[in-house]
Amino acid sequence: ITANMKVLLFFGLVAVALAEVTRFEGDKVIRLKPVLDEHVTLIRELAKNIKVDMWAPDDAMLVTIDIDVDIHVPGMYLSMVYTILQQSDMEHEILIEDVQEAINAQTDSGASPRAHSYTKYNTWNDIQSWIASISSSNPSLISKQVIGNTYEGRPMIVLKLGKKTSSTKPAIFMDCGIHAREWISPAFCQWFVKEALSTYGSDSQMTSLLNQMDVFVLPVFNVDGYDFTHKSNRMWRKTRSRKSGSSCIGADPNRNFNAGWCTIGASSNPCSDTFCGYSPESEIEVKNVADFIRRNKSIIKSYITIHSYSQLLLFPYSYTYELAAHHSELMKVAEGASAALRSLYGTRYTSGPGATTIYPAAGGSDDWAYDLGVKYSYTFELRDTGRYGFLLPESQIKPTCEETMLAVKYIAAYVQKNL
Ligand code: ARG
Ligand code: ZN
Repeated sequence: ITANMKVLLFFGLVAVALAEVTRFEGDKVIRLKPVLDEHVTLIRELAKNIKVDMWAPDDAMLVTIDIDVDIHVPGMYLSMVYTILQQSDMEHEILIEDVQEAINAQTDSGASPRAHSYTKYNTWNDIQSWIASISSSNPSLISKQVIGNTYEGRPMIVLKLGKKTSSTKPAIFMDCGIHAREWISPAFCQWFVKEALSTYGSDSQMTSLLNQMDVFVLPVFNVDGYDFTHKSNRMWRKTRSRKSGSSCIGADPNRNFNAGWCTIGASSNPCSDTFCGYSPESEIEVKNVADFIRRNKSIIKSYITIHSYSQLLLFPYSYTYELAAHHSELMKVAEGASAALRSLYGTRYTSGPGATTIYPAAGGSDDWAYDLGVKYSYTFELRDTGRYGFLLPESQIKPTCEETMLAVKYIAAYVQKNL
């Protein structure tokens, strides 16, 4: 062991000591079934007073009667929560017995942890190298551009898929990973890019799509948050921005767009998981994407954003109960896409406007893009419906991505036909 190695070892140990990792041994995810007003009040009180992490809906304020409420309860609060549930006679069911065990069990793909794989939840480092290699592999079909940096200085990279032509083509914009812990989402964007490149020339629909249109793919929107979920806290949702005056970190990027900003279904409390931010586009990641879409507004015909979980295909509006001007067409396309998705493995999706299908929530990217003039604006909530929630095992990446491809291709084909 040389002096150099000793120095490296020393700093390595310091880094390990400094990197705090949140663990979840003994925590459970419980599904509550409120049927009375007092149940709703109780859940809200619980969320306020103890550190429950809301899985669905995203915020306790969005809890209503007769919906399933999935909460992640730290082990130390379990007996108290059970007592409350018994006293109030609220029906409930355990979804995840031990959150840490479920986290460890996600990696059931058998893929090497040291290399990029389409059937694995890749780290940001691996995704970044993958972006570099795939974009140089096929210069006539794919190129990359940095649309800005994140709060912590990581590049936000958009891949442009499409046959190179001299004229400007109409385009579709798709992003993944707005919310850090929804790992299946970036996995889908990577899968989509691979499929687009490998089926161009053999699949007639993909060939025609990429000949006539470009598809912009942002594989990871909230890069800082995504990296944080790999290194420190698997359950992180928001960005990682800081502001003096609050010790709480980050805002919800899907509450930070300028669409009825912070009027409903969002929190103005910086410590909330649905914090809308200090102003619309206060999050640099949101501003970078909004700027990119505004710059390309004349060519972008469709906006697709990928989240999880719940198996939903949503479209505007979420900031109001009013129906979108193109409601029936958006519904028809959503139902066609859901049917296509279901045809492969029987996975059932529900389609509809966000506000009535799940809950009203302002500041979302779909509503913002739609009001900007991007008519075909859709939010996917991928698998599952709560058995694993955000901790979907890697063995489900392939079937989830395969079925989702059918839905996205259905929307793309419709957009292409109606240019
Ligand atoms: N679960 C997603 C969220 O809460 C749904 C987004 C639907 N669209 C919306 N504009 N709220 O961010
Ligand atoms: Zn989400």
